[in-house]
Amino acid sequence: MSAPTPNWWKTGTAYQVWPASYKDSNGDGIGDIQGLISTLPYLKKLGIDIVWLSPMYKSPQKDFGYDISDYQDVDPQFGTLADLDELIKKCHDMGMKLLLDLVINHTSDQHKWFLESKKDKTNEKADWYIWRDAKMVDGKRHPPNNWRSIFGGSAWEWVEERGQYYLHLFVPEQPDLNWELDEVRQAIYREAISFWLDRGVDGFRVDTCNLYSKNTSYPDAPIVLMGEEYQPAEAHFVNGPRMHEWLKEQREQVLDKYGDVAMVGELPGTDAAEVLKYVAAEVRELSCVFDFDVVSLGGRHGAGVKKHQVHKHDLPSFKQAIGKQQDLTRGTTAWSTAFLENHDQARSLNRFATADPKYREKAAKMLATLLGCLTGTLFIYQGQEIGMVNMPDSWGIEEIKDPDSLNAYHDVMHRHDGEPLWLEKAMAGIRRVARDNARTPVHWDSSKHGGFTTGEPWMRVHDLYPEINVADQEKNPSSPLNYWRKMIEIRQKYAELAVFGDFETWDFLEPDSFTFTKENKSNGYEKKKLLTFLSFSDEVQPLHFPPDCKGKEMELLISNVDEPGKHLTPWEARVYLVSL
Ligand code: BGC
Repeated sequence: MSAPTPNWWKTGTAYQVWPASYKDSNGDGIGDIQGLISTLPYLKKLGIDIVWLSPMYKSPQKDFGYDISDYQDVDPQFGTLADLDELIKKCHDMGMKLLLDLVINHTSDQHKWFLESKKDKTNEKADWYIWRDAKMVDGKRHPPNNWRSIFGGSAWEWVEERGQYYLHLFVPEQPDLNWELDEVRQAIYREAISFWLDRGVDGFRVDTCNLYSKNTSYPDAPIVLMGEEYQPAEAHFVNGPRMHEWLKEQREQVLDKYGDVAMVGELPGTDAAEVLKYVAAEVRELSCVFDFDVVSLGGRHGAGVKKHQVHKHDLPSFKQAIGKQQDLTRGTTAWSTAFLENHDQARSLNRFATADPKYREKAAKMLATLLGCLTGTLFIYQGQEIGMVNMPDSWGIEEIKDPDSLNAYHDVMHRHDGEPLWLEKAMAGIRRVARDNARTPVHWDSSKHGGFTTGEPWMRVHDLYPEINVADQEKNPSSPLNYWRKMIEIRQKYAELAVFGDFETWDFLEPDSFTFTKENKSNGYEKKKLLTFLSFSDEVQPLHFPPDCKGKEMELLISNVDEPGKHLTPWEARVYLVSL
């Protein structure tokens, strides 16, 4: 067990704001920085210590800000640099930290670096991106290899001007930077990192931070998807050979000048041993990571219809994935994060519990209880605190905005000649797990468009905003919002156990309930444990008592029912402080 340390990014509770859908202050239908500033007192009252703001940089918005055309400016749709400075100051005045998103695997194709690079093979920035010649087969031009972009199609795009292809692991408008070049890394450090640390931000959520280093021989990927032209090539670009060298360089050359800067890295597709190489304290690379095993449960691979197909997972696999994330810190110097939602995931109620109106609120509180008791830095995503749910089943493709979803849908249309049953299957997958589910605007009250905007929202507001909104939940002491507030308070009060404790599951194979304890054999907590009971079922479940807790003095700290009884009612949650 790593001893608790005062790092602010370990003890704090974080809240992610995806600006376009958070709060609009000027009636243009798009959320903005002033909208966020107006809600800082709300976040403070919720118990938030750290705000993570998703990209607000200048961007053509081809991937909603993850395609940056100027690292040193704010996109006009979100506000100005002065607004951002005000946000930094107000967060600090209120005792909160601010993390920005650091998107440096790629830029926008409208970034000045790329505009120059694409001109010819000899300009000053000619090698700042990853350019390769075409492969000629029977006199016909083909991409340099068969890599598939994460968002579908080839990972290479042809530029006539230069007579070469460039690599883009995401949409074609997101060309990958060539990290192999010293001057590229120095420019990134200067413009994307130091610029913001100098202005006072406290750290970054680091986008796709295990993709910078590629297999520079760019070999074809093995064929695993029969009949597909482009193949998944993760083995050639995830956790590549120079990742650790570069992250250490970044820490030593840049971050160390600014004190305890938090670097919260996104590490998809990485097993526990590999994660530790990035995040053990002594390697000084990342502060903590988002591990994706929980949110990826049930798989999400393949092209076309398969892109958004998930298999129903069982509760033991959920417990196993949570266990992996919890065990990252056990007996190590590493730190982790606890989360169930972000802007790339469907809503957690639909994904891991139930969105059935009969149980929705109770289940939202149950998931809050789970998260509130997990080791690591807790990240809450906008709207999660009021129990927002996936898009309604009645919505069609016309409401979908995300290029990833749209590409997948059009791919199905193309492959299956528009066959309606195939399209319905594609749509069903999108409704279940597409990123759009997390991107509908936040419901602030029951007025038109949920109080998100006084104008026309850029994305349709969920039909359920009159039933699920902040203003109503403020008034209701037993709402998910008020439950979250209480849960965060308890998490802070018993941080030695909840935030730093060792996690143990007691009913691993039980398909309907989840019982775990948190303990910490130091700091005066040797004789205490947190004991958490959760129901993942529509039916009554028996309690599974860990043997060493039986017959011991138990104090109920929180529950989503008024009087917890002998059994767990559907979707019930309770946490006890046990004196051993
Ligand atoms: C971000 C996504 C984005 C992608 C490309 C991610 O992991 O979270 O929203 O599309 O990186 O930047």
